Order: sequence, then structure tokens, then C-alpha cells
Amino acid sequence: MVNHNAEIIAEITKLKLQKNAVILVHNYQRPEVQDIADFIGDSLELSQRASQTTADVIVFCGVHFMAETAYIINPKRTVLLPEPESGCPMADMITAEALIAKKKELKGVTVVCYVNSTAAVKAESDICCTSANAVKVVQSLGAKEILFVPDQYLGQWVSQKTGKPMHLWPGFCPTHMRVLAEDILREKQLHPGALALVHPECRPETKAVADEVMSTGGMIRYARESKAKELIIGTETGIIYRLQKENPGKVFIPATEKAVCPNMKRITLEKVLWALQEMQHRITVPEDIRVKALSSVEKMLTLP
Ligand code: 13P
Ligand code: SF4
Repeated sequence: MVNHNAEIIAEITKLKLQKNAVILVHNYQRPEVQDIADFIGDSLELSQRASQTTADVIVFCGVHFMAETAYIINPKRTVLLPEPESGCPMADMITAEALIAKKKELKGVTVVCYVNSTAAVKAESDICCTSANAVKVVQSLGAKEILFVPDQYLGQWVSQKTGKPMHLWPGFCPTHMRVLAEDILREKQLHPGALALVHPECRPETKAVADEVMSTGGMIRYARESKAKELIIGTETGIIYRLQKENPGKVFIPATEKAVCPNMKRITLEKVLWALQEMQHRITVPEDIRVKALSSVEKMLTLP
């Protein structure tokens, strides 16, 4: 039988060389897409990679705001998103217009925006953050009043960790909403001794019963370094593949099989190949917005 995937991968490898392309992949992508990554990571690690790459083309296997952030940071590169419909519903829960109106209402407020937001929202924010550095970003601010957008649950957790009260935008991630406290408690009962790691986008009740709260990159490091042999994972289930591949001696239990991000799953090997063949879909941002958005992203990337 012909190995269809092997043929596609061979073609992707050939085109990647021809076009001097790099493939950046988020931890939630399908296993076969993770396997062709030049670099795989969380939002922060991927934006750092995008800023450093000298490749002419960045094929971004993630969601729209991630590819857009790569373009904001490194506009000389051609940034391709293999599936243009891969959006993030949370990022769409705030518009630049609504943010401008809120800033008028809360005169002088400092806006911290989660990287899961559009370029136009980043352009209206003072500083950006990811789930990996949100606490550090908020701690670095001397501001009296802070507005955190768009994820109320990441904001709630950062506020708790830093002791800084913040105005919270009422956005949320529909995928992480599905990870419930009862899921963590059930799996803990089924696997005594297992530690539960959850993403800060989860509900406060879910985070309250977990052992640790961290970004997907944090989970990858924790799994590598921890002595624990069993870990319950409260985030998008795509990360389990990487955790298991890198730690064959350990057991990873998804808190719930319901935590699937349909947008992350839209990208397939066929679409990656097509992206390189057709040089589509190019992600760009109007220059005036890019420059303003870059200022908030750069402040995050250059934090000591
Ligand atoms: P990370 O930055 O932890 O990879 O999270 C990205 C994301 O979209 C979580 O839903
Ligand atoms: Fe957006 Fe949630 Fe999907 Fe992450 S998991 S990309 S926050 S919808």
C-alpha cells in the first residue's frame, strides 16, 4: 500500500528547501502536523522563534492570531496560514472599537492584552502577554488601574497571583470551558498519586482543584522535569501526543476528551503542502496597525 502521508511529507520537505521555509507548529496541532515541525511550542515560544527566523517563509500551523503575531514581529517574511478559517473564538470576543469605548470609560487605564487577540486590539493595548508570561507582565506594571482583555479567566488568575485588582473583559475560551472541576476530581480519584496540570484559561473552580496552573510550554517542561509518573492534563487534548512522545515512561491522562479546539484541528498535512505550493494564505496586517501592535508585543518580548 502506498503511504500517502510519506509522499506528502516528502513533497513538503522538498518545497521547504526550495522556498527556504520554516514550519512553526503549536502544541495543539494534529500529531502528523507536529511531526513535520521545525519548531513546536506555545504561543510565546512560537513568537520568539518567529522573531529570530531568517527563513523567507514561515508556515504557521496554529490559529490566525498566532500567524498574525509572527507577521507583526517579522514583516519581511512571508507568513502563511494553511487554513484561513483557523480562527480563535476568544480573540473575536473583543473588537478594537469596543476596546476604544472601554478606554474612554476607564480614563487613563493601562490595557494588557492576551496574545489571543487581533492585531487591531493589540494596537489599542499598552502591552501584550501570553499565558506563559502574563504574571510577569502585570507585575512589571506600575499602573494604578489595569484592564485585562479578552480572557476573563486568565485575567482572574493573574490578578490572584499578583494581588493586583484588574478590570476583566468577559471573554473566554470555549474549549477550556469544557474542562470542569469534576473532571479533575474524577481523574484524581481514578489515578491516585497523579498530579493535575491545567491551563490558566480554565474556569476558576477547575484551577482551584488542580496541582499546577501553566501554559502549554510550561506543561512540556514540567512533564520532563517532574518525578511524577502520571499527569492529568487540563488543556486542549492535542498536547497529549507531544507529552507522550517526549516522555515514553510516563502516563498522560486528558482531564476530558471534550477539550478539543476545532480550529487547531483544521490544519492537515495536505493543507500544509498546498500552502507551500500555492504560497497561500498570506497573513498581513496594514502597516499603521502593525506598527502600533508591534509596540505592545515588543514590550512583552523585551521584558527582562
Ligand atoms: P499557550 O500559549 O499556553 O500555548 O496557549 C495558547 C492557547 O491558545 C491556549 O488555548
Ligand atoms: Fe482559542 Fe481556545 Fe482554541 Fe486556544 S484553545 S486557540 S484560546 S479557542
